[in-house]
Amino acid sequence: MSEQIGNLTFGIIKPDAVRAGKTGGVIKRIIEGGFKLRGMKLIHMTHEEAQGFYAVHKERPFFGELTQFMSSAPCVVLALEKDGAVKAWRDLMGATDPAKADEGTIRKEFATSIGENAVHGSDSEENARIEISYFFSQLELV
Ligand code: CMP
Repeated sequence: MSEQIGNLTFGIIKPDAVRAGKTGGVIKRIIEGGFKLRGMKLIHMTHEEAQGFYAVHKERPFFGELTQFMSSAPCVVLALEKDGAVKAWRDLMGATDPAKADEGTIRKEFATSIGENAVHGSDSEENARIEISYFFSQLELV
């Protein structure tokens, strides 16, 4: 995986989107956006797993709300491949706050609020590597 890391990013289809039956719609947008699925699975995080994943935000006032939400229901974790994958996935997702997301982005179409914003994406290649490793073993990446 390491030799291709610049082409990989990590994504989550969050509980709000899965619960609302939007998983297929988001995957369709990902495929149409030119990404190749290298890893994909449905998981239901424990609260502790969500706290570990979002540890970088542990001092933020929304940390409790965020980690409760992310462990409230199943979500889909993704390893996505494309040239310049980190930026390409962030561009396709749109702004964190869906009220500020551009037309044509996934958050504009599927997200309801800054907390329940349909999808997550890594913000750097280094974090993409860390986040993929948090959820996927080498054997689960095709
Ligand atoms: P995500 O890309 O998953 O990374 C951190 C998440 O924290 C972010 O998306 C938002 O869903 C969430 N978040 C950021 N700001 C707020 C906020 N002010 N209130 C609640 N959740 C937030």
